[in-house]
Amino acid sequence: MVDYRITVLPGDGTGREVMTEAARILDAISESTNLGFEQTIIQCGGQHYLETGQVWAEGSYAVCRDESDAILLGAIGWPGAKLENGDMAGGEVILGLRSGLDLFANVRPIKLYEGVKHKIHGNFSQQWAPDKVDLVVLRENTEGLYHSLLHRSAASAQGLAEYEPPEMEFPGLHGEVAWDPRPISKFGSHRLIETGFRLAGRRNGNPDGETVVHCVDKSNVTRGCQLFRKTFDEVALTYPEIKAEHAYIDAFTMWLVRNPEWFDVVVTTNMFGDIATDLGSVLQGGMGMAASANVGDEHGMFEPVHGSAPKYAGQNKVNPIASILSVQQMLGWLGRRKNDEALNNASRVVDQAVAEHLSEGKQVTYDLGGSATTEAVGVAIAARVKAILSEQ
Ligand code: IPM
Ligand code: MN
Repeated sequence: MVDYRITVLPGDGTGREVMTEAARILDAISESTNLGFEQTIIQCGGQHYLETGQVWAEGSYAVCRDESDAILLGAIGWPGAKLENGDMAGGEVILGLRSGLDLFANVRPIKLYEGVKHKIHGNFSQQWAPDKVDLVVLRENTEGLYHSLLHRSAASAQGLAEYEPPEMEFPGLHGEVAWDPRPISKFGSHRLIETGFRLAGRRNGNPDGETVVHCVDKSNVTRGCQLFRKTFDEVALTYPEIKAEHAYIDAFTMWLVRNPEWFDVVVTTNMFGDIATDLGSVLQGGMGMAASANVGDEHGMFEPVHGSAPKYAGQNKVNPIASILSVQQMLGWLGRRKNDEALNNASRVVDQAVAEHLSEGKQVTYDLGGSATTEAVGVAIAARVKAILSEQ
């Protein structure tokens, strides 16, 4: 029996409900294999802050850093939960872990499973087929436009001063000015882009059968994006067997919706990736289907892309599949890292169980056109995972 230590951070709102279903999947795997998962649950986030005055208990960060083989996160963010400086309460949890544990790659698959309708209105939707949407966006996760908030969290922990905007006179810049510097480093870009090319090498290409990495940036305008693109071109030279393409972020959003089959792996900067993947989720049936992995060289944190959905919190209503697919990513990452074929197999089985569940289409939540509860979907997929594993 191998025991892996999984730290579960349910966080806010519906994050708590979907993490229960994620845990159910892990339990199903343990019951039918030699894999064990020791789950440590740590309450955290904006609601926790309102209840206790702390975003999480003292020592929680150290548990994530030192006592976890992987971390699962539900969702962070709650209306009215703000720190004294006005920043969102819980930001240190999600953004602090991303930067503190050097989780430099935010890996966000956009895949339309058979049986799921994408959420674009109009007649064009009839022309779409699941085999047109299967790409992965890699969002840089530790710098870019998120830098100022990351810096503020670090600065307050270490008693340092916040950034002050530089003195500048420029047309349009008068009176009060807020300033969010957007540093992009060659180091940060390089490790993200390298991860993208390696991932492309493991995949079967885009729906057109082409193995290609797209660099998505705004290098016609910003210095940071020029450095990102230059770094991309350098890395691309070392992967002659993989096609390398460029797109500006504005045009990319259009092509993503119009011709998703062109894309296989996409690498981009932090905020662009944040925005583009919410848009991309529409192609896969909505945010309830969008999973993500935050990974670095030493640590991994896995979370659904959706937020805490306060409107639906506590109603046993939201789709747990984004979280279940985040578990699937976690198992695959851990399997490669620990060289454990049982984990790799479990990851494939979770994907298969989700695919079969969706193509059967009987029990789906409201967002996919059904009326099943969060729990019912979790229970059904967990049962399928067990059934597949016990037949092996
Ligand atoms: C996400 C979220 C976060 C982000 C928020 C909660 C800070 O939107 O994971 O995409 O902007 O990165
Ligand atoms: Mn987001």
